[in-house]
Amino acid sequence: MDIPRIFNITESAHRIHNPMTPEKLATLGAALRLEPKTRVLDLGSGSGEMLCTWARDYGIVGTGIDMSQLFSEQAERRAEELGVAHQVRFVHGDATGYVSDEKVNVAACVGATWIAGGVAGAIELLARSLRTGGIILIGEPYWRQLPPTENIAKGCLTNAISDFLVLPELLASFGHLGYDVVEMVLADQSDWDRYEAAKWLTMRRWLEANPDDELAHEVQSRLVSEPERHAAYTREYLGWGVFALMPRLCPRSTSLCGAA
Ligand SMILES: C[S@@+](CC[C@H](N)C(=O)[O-])C[C@H]1O[C@@H](n2cnc3c(N)ncnc32)[C@H](O)[C@@H]1O
Repeated sequence: MDIPRIFNITESAHRIHNPMTPEKLATLGAALRLEPKTRVLDLGSGSGEMLCTWARDYGIVGTGIDMSQLFSEQAERRAEELGVAHQVRFVHGDATGYVSDEKVNVAACVGATWIAGGVAGAIELLARSLRTGGIILIGEPYWRQLPPTENIAKGCLTNAISDFLVLPELLASFGHLGYDVVEMVLADQSDWDRYEAAKWLTMRRWLEANPDDELAHEVQSRLVSEPERHAAYTREYLGWGVFALMPRLCPRSTSLCGAA
């Protein structure tokens, strides 16, 4: 079981597989006011940077599940390197439908909501592992500006304009699902560069080392086309953020409660 090999190649040197810098990951941890022993579940945990650095910096404990064998191994190595292997556990596996035995304080799916069919499904899945009073974290793209044509949306490597919302609509959609947005940390264009441009040198070095590999042509063609594609499309049109959500309270005196 694994993700398509092309991602294991192009993102092999990434610690964070999203347009999220180490500084913003730390900002998010601080914003959530994490306390020692906070229990965190991370579905699609990638190379484990969020759990490992939050374990080091805030004393959290947690579990990450990811379908990439390479990323899962990198996560375990990172935990050793940061001296937090006793606090965090990484499972190589399919997180589809995963519900933890023990309820958690923070349940996250940061950039992998498709594992539950999209944002609404991911929230529903994460909620099943969440303690009362806990926080759900969703990492998701949105349109910085709405693409004027479907072709531009495709240039952003999405299927259609309807794949994503603009930021105010995305925030409103959480409310429609019955959740308050209690924090958010957003990526900017240079954060997108750190995620996308970091793939280019990785691809170049991989090509030098693997000229005869069956994916060499595909990697070469991506290396040629990706800088221009990124600058023309993703960098201009796509935003990205991590949104912290809590089930909306329902005081008797308000009519703002969601549908959930
Ligand atoms: C965009 S990356 C985000 C990784 C991590 N959250 C981060 O911010 O670094 C998406 C991750 O989802 C993982 N993934 C894809 N399908 C999955 C599945 N069915 N179950 C678990 N992980 C999955 C990929 O291996 C990849 O690490």
